[in-house]
Formats: sequence, C-alpha cells, structure tokens
Amino acid sequence: MNIKDHNGIFVGGASGMALATAEKFKERGGNVAILDLPSSDGAAVAERLGGSYHECNVMEFEAAEKAIADAVNALGSAHFCVNTAGGGAAQRTLAKDGPHSLDEFRRVVDLNLIASFNISRLVAEHMSRNEPNEEGERGCIINTASIAAFEGQIGQVAYSAAKAGIVGMTFVMARDLGSLGIRANCIAPSLFDTGLTSAIPDEFALQLTKDAAFPKRMGKPEHFAIQAISMYENAMMNGGTVRVDAGQRFAPK
Ligand SMILES: NC(=O)c1ccc[n+]([C@@H]2O[C@H](COP(=O)([O-])OP(=O)(O)OC[C@H]3O[C@@H](n4cnc5c(N)ncnc54)[C@H](O)[C@@H]3O)[C@@H](O)[C@H]2O)c1
Repeated sequence: MNIKDHNGIFVGGASGMALATAEKFKERGGNVAILDLPSSDGAAVAERLGGSYHECNVMEFEAAEKAIADAVNALGSAHFCVNTAGGGAAQRTLAKDGPHSLDEFRRVVDLNLIASFNISRLVAEHMSRNEPNEEGERGCIINTASIAAFEGQIGQVAYSAAKAGIVGMTFVMARDLGSLGIRANCIAPSLFDTGLTSAIPDEFALQLTKDAAFPKRMGKPEHFAIQAISMYENAMMNGGTVRVDAGQRFAPK
C-alpha cells in the first residue's frame, strides 16, 4: 500500500519503536494518531507530527475501544495500526520464595497478548470499512513480539508466553482477515535502545548483545520502523513474524 494520504494509529507511539514508525509514516505523507498512557509525551509528539493524541491504557480494554474509535474519527479512517505497548516481568517458574505469582503472569499476558488482540480486533473492524485499493487491500496491522517469544531467558516465562501468543495469533489473524484485504504481521526485535531499555548501562548492553552475529549492539527504533513500513508497503507480507535481531539468539541468562 502507498502511504501518501493514508491514516495510521500508533499505540505506544509516544516513544521508541512506534514513535519512529509514526515519524516515517508521516515523512512519507501519511497522517498519524498517537495512543499512549496519560503520563507519556503523546500529546507533544502528536502536535509535532501534526496528528492527534488519544489517552489510552491498553490494559483498560473497554476504554481502549473508545480511544481507537476517537483516533479513527480524528483521522477519518485507519489503514495502518502499529502496537508496541507491552513489557515484561522478571520471575522464575519456581524461585526460592515460591512459585511464580499467577497474578503477575496474568498481568503480563493481559498487557502483551490480550491487549494486542483487543486492539487488532477493534481496528480490523474500522479497516473493514475502507474502500479497497486496486489490489483489494484495506489495511495492515503490526503487533510487536520479541525474540524472547522463541528463546526467552530465565525469568521471562510470562513474557515469553505472551509474546509467543502474539506470534501464534498473527498467522491466524492474517487468515481470518484475508477475505477483507487486511494483512497482519508481527515484528520480533532483539534488544533495542528505547524508553523501555534506557536504564540499561552501556557495558551491560554490550554484554546482553554479545551473542549477536552482527552488529553486536542494541537496535535503534529506526530499525523497527524500516521493517514496519516495509510490511505496510509490501502486499506479499502477511501472517509473518520477522526477527529484527542482528542474528542474536538469547542465551539462558
Ligand atoms: N526495547 C527492546 O529491547 C524490546 C525488545 C523486544 C521487544 N520489545 C517490545 O517493544 C515494546 C516496547 O516498545 P519500545 O521498546 O519502543 O519501548 P518504549 O518504552 O520506548 O515505548 C513504549 C510505549 O508504550 C507505552 N505504553 C506502555 N504501557 C502502555 C499501556 N499499558 N497502554 C498504552 N501505552 C503503553 C509507553 O508509554 C511508551 O510510550 C514492548 O511490547 C516490548 O515487549 C522491546
């Protein structure tokens, strides 16, 4: 799909990888709506990009429905949706102080998997109302996994489960939405230099990326954005998860 005059919703778009994607989408002539937490820089980011900001906590599933509807109203329609809101926890299945908290496991699954599904199902309904382009396309959804979906480290059991769920659902979502001309894809980054990881000291980042093939360093938000924009533009990209990871495979810890 061509980006010019198309409309994109960026959930988690106040920072990091979704922000970089929103910037690229805007540069190429698209219009943007930023959804993010009230505590985020979403309003300032949206103003800078000439778009709209909508407060949204993806864990509040019903409120998220309204935020998405407001974003679609502000834009007129939605062709692109990128969701990066997510995060992890550090707990082993069984630790010295007892088994993994079930509430914490559920929280991480809600934040990453259930919220991503909620946003996808809601935005798909809005996309289904678009006039298809000459190839029959109406929209493209991108969710964010992690290479921890494939080889999570010790302590990432909840996060890995949630991210593996995102990988698994993406292919089925592509099948479910195919007859409507809506594509669904997923990006699985390695360690990226974003708001989420800003507290990691440089020496530790080197340690964490030492198993990468090349380059042995953290990715930049722009590397995610390049992949996301390519998924949008390439009609043959559907149902897939692309690792953007410099050939890294996480060690057990
Ligand atoms: N940075 C990494 O190393 C890395 C690696 C693999 C996967 N990821 C995934 O990328 C995503 C994080 O993106 P980032 O690295 O660009 O981080 P980031 O912190 O720079 O951006 C994430 C944005 O999401 C927003 N957000 C967080 N929780 C939210 C919620 N409940 N509702 C709405 N918005 C919320 C934050 O306010 C922030 O603006 C997560 O899904 C994470 O699992 C990150």
